[in-house]
Amino acid sequence: MKKIAVITGASSGLGREFALQIARHYKTVQEIWIIARRTDRLDNLKKEIKEISDKTVRVLTLDLSKQSDIDFYKKLLERQHAGIRVLVNAAGFGVMGHVDKISYEDSVDMVDLNCRALIAMTHISLPYMTYPSNIINMASSAAFMPQPSFAVYAATKSLVLSFSRALNQEMAGKGVTVTAVCPGPVDTEFFDRAQVYAQMIPVKKYFLVKPEDVVRKALTDAYHGKEMSVYGVAMNAFRGLTSVIPTSVILKFFN
Ligand SMILES: NC(=O)c1ccc[n+]([C@@H]2O[C@H](COP(=O)([O-])OP(=O)(O)OC[C@H]3O[C@@H](n4cnc5c(N)ncnc54)[C@H](OP(=O)(O)O)[C@@H]3O)[C@@H](O)[C@H]2O)c1
Repeated sequence: MKKIAVITGASSGLGREFALQIARHYKTVQEIWIIARRTDRLDNLKKEIKEISDKTVRVLTLDLSKQSDIDFYKKLLERQHAGIRVLVNAAGFGVMGHVDKISYEDSVDMVDLNCRALIAMTHISLPYMTYPSNIINMASSAAFMPQPSFAVYAATKSLVLSFSRALNQEMAGKGVTVTAVCPGPVDTEFFDRAQVYAQMIPVKKYFLVKPEDVVRKALTDAYHGKEMSVYGVAMNAFRGLTSVIPTSVILKFFN
């Protein structure tokens, strides 16, 4: 049985970086499936992976907000004699702004991609996970507490964090670990779409980190079976604060 890595959101940012680092470091993986909507980006990534490893790369142009494309992935897996060594759910997006200022479509699309598609991809992949294997889900530090001006996005990431931690517990002893990755702001294309309605608060720019560093830590944490991966002193401090200071008090600083 061939061992594969499946990476969603691979056409840019964190997903792309996961694909490159997995190509370099996951020696037992023979084939990498890279998933997103932009085929040209995925084709370029395929070339880059071929330059640094001998792994086979399968480009899957899928819109994960469409049930038909999720079904395609399910059928593809059923036809393969493959075991998943690592699944990375990195497809996702967020838009900033008060809920009554952003479109209804953007709100429900965030829920659809960040939550529904992530759960669907995980569910479908679970029977194919090898022993041992890793599921790596992109949550966010936005999951740690409600965030005015990022309300729906933060709520979707709370779901990802909660779901991932519970699943990690369910999988204990079965060789499958689930790691929720919770970075603060990362320097990717994420903010192109995120800032259509409202700008990021300027102070956040000082916390921007590189995708390479977030992914390196996430892969190390997944390797060690950690249920959460939080990169950087600032975000670990934020996480600490949200666990000791009442949410109602912290929320006062957000408006
Ligand atoms: N950047 C940050 O500050 C940050 C912080 C914390 C958590 N995160 C999370 O990290 C994950 C990756 O974000 P990023 O920073 O790497 O953003 P990014 O550079 O914008 O990448 C997002 C990826 O999702 C894919 N995608 C979007 N809609 C899709 C759809 N309908 N179907 C399939 N793929 C879709 C995009 O590819 P196509 O457009 O080609 O489909 C792209 O590859 C997201 O879940 C995000 O919420 C990001």
